[in-house]
Amino acid sequence: MVWFSLSPLIALQYAILYANTAIIACDRFSKDFVAVPNIQKRIESILSDAVVAAFGPEHADADPLINPTKDPKFGDYQANLAMGLAKKLGQKPRDIATAIVEKIDADDLFSKIDIAGPGFINLMLTQETVNQSAETILADLDRLAVAEVDEKQTVVVDFSSPNVAKEMHVGHIRSTVIGDALARIFKFLGHDVIKQNHVGDWGTQFGMLIQYMDEMPEADREAHEAGEGDTLNTIYQKSKQRFDAEDDFAQRARERVVALQAGDEETLVVWQKLVNESETYFDAVYKRLGIDLSLDDIKGESFYNPRLGNVIKDLKTADLLKESQGADVVYPEGFKDRDGNPMPMIVRKSDGGFLYATTDLAAAQYRINDLNADRIVYVTDSRQSQHFSMVFQTLREAGWAPSNVRLDHVPFGTIMGKDRKPFKTRSGETIKLVDLIDEAESRAAGILADKNPDMDTDTAAEVAHTVGIGCLKYADLSNDRIKDYIFDWDRMLSFDGNTAAYLQNSYVRCMSIFRRGEVDPSSLSGAKILATEPAERLIVLKLLQLPNVLQSVADSLEPHRLTNYLYELASLYHSFYEKCPVLKSEGETKISRLALCLLTAQTISNGLALLGIDTPPQM
Ligand code: ARG
Repeated sequence: MVWFSLSPLIALQYAILYANTAIIACDRFSKDFVAVPNIQKRIESILSDAVVAAFGPEHADADPLINPTKDPKFGDYQANLAMGLAKKLGQKPRDIATAIVEKIDADDLFSKIDIAGPGFINLMLTQETVNQSAETILADLDRLAVAEVDEKQTVVVDFSSPNVAKEMHVGHIRSTVIGDALARIFKFLGHDVIKQNHVGDWGTQFGMLIQYMDEMPEADREAHEAGEGDTLNTIYQKSKQRFDAEDDFAQRARERVVALQAGDEETLVVWQKLVNESETYFDAVYKRLGIDLSLDDIKGESFYNPRLGNVIKDLKTADLLKESQGADVVYPEGFKDRDGNPMPMIVRKSDGGFLYATTDLAAAQYRINDLNADRIVYVTDSRQSQHFSMVFQTLREAGWAPSNVRLDHVPFGTIMGKDRKPFKTRSGETIKLVDLIDEAESRAAGILADKNPDMDTDTAAEVAHTVGIGCLKYADLSNDRIKDYIFDWDRMLSFDGNTAAYLQNSYVRCMSIFRRGEVDPSSLSGAKILATEPAERLIVLKLLQLPNVLQSVADSLEPHRLTNYLYELASLYHSFYEKCPVLKSEGETKISRLALCLLTAQTISNGLALLGIDTPPQM
């Protein structure tokens, strides 16, 4: 799949269909054409210069607070810095705004600048700037004129991270989908992204699992290995039942843990088998979901096992290791228990066993020292927030994470059923992720069969997959991640509203114009844009926001900012389509409007691709 160009399938269709159509657009970029890559950035620097010119270099880093205006009647952008500056300088905001405006040196970028209310500076772009900006994006369809960051970072994204021998369930979808989207966006912005699937593949539960496998009747084991008997998940549950019910089995399981930790070869062989089997299963789920995670990205808890002893030693050297009831603990600053006493984070139990936190400390050391991370992003549900705060605080106090390394926990809420309780099956069991995927696909297939009964079977199945998975992921990404959200099939698969189906359908409709008009989209390269109608101008202004939207997702780690943006763009496109005839228009207007269709389609499909969502060629 080529992510940042028209889907190859479509490109091929056009190549075959319109090989002979005349090129209707002309190449018009003159040599002195000045690209306007990120207009908001440019406005920011113009305003900063004006502030310096008006009030001196000591105000060079005052944030000009530039934002697109909400209402086009106030212009295209608004600068809100006068109020803050006024406080600092002890002057009236309006006077400050006036002084800044007098110093704006913007060579024809603005057609109108005025001051509103207490001191808002409203800026209107010239028609030429609007047109040229759109042309710049058209000339760079793959990246939509989104520049790579100036300061490239190594960003480690820790996400998905399911546990070996357990079925992936509905709870895993969020970390997997959010982490995948964030990793794609960081990469697109030019960062070096290292994905880390921190799978739970180590710990006492493996003792009982391995022991159970060892004692399993030969026939049962063979059936399991042939994929016919109990699944690993069932074996896990049965081993747990035995562990809880039978004292001597529990004892043998504990001895197994010791053997595993001591590196007993026979035990390790069984363990490795279990791990491989689970990882193959995870991989299949990722493939179905279109998650960009491979077996190479797995760095499970077991990887850090040999490093845990050193963590304790290093904590001691850093003078952070304390003792509490026979256990080794640290007391990260700022954490208190209910009674107001310092709250410990246990790193080694009294029996010598290490904990989840110890592994996370080792993993952070590895990521900072060996992977050279500038930033580490952990995507887990919000119940782990305290765990990560304590780990981060310890890393800082120990000096292992210097202040220039950014540590982010990306917490998210729970998926709820319509009854507003955690989403379960009717009989109250957790929902397996694969069942959810199956249902998304079959529901999408049903909806598509109603809407488009003539589609051939293979295409229909492929489109149902793209739409079903797309909607499943989009529902997750479009919600403010920190909130719980209600899982609602009808809403998430709706063709109206803020859903993947709506955006995918908008894309298909944008592109269908080219088929109906018998226009090869690639013939629009270099087209002249005339975004003079208000509806046209609004689309271009929206397109210009993309770099800032992506940057804000990278800063806030909130993918819903991108889904909202795409939804707004598609909505603007629909009103443009109603108000501005495309195929019925003529000459330069027609070319310009076709180019706006192409820019919209490409932005929707690139934007969805950055969220890990495909666009179908038809729907
Ligand atoms: N396996 C863990 C769980 O299922 C998630 C791991 C998240 N990453 C981490 N570095 N702790 O809850």
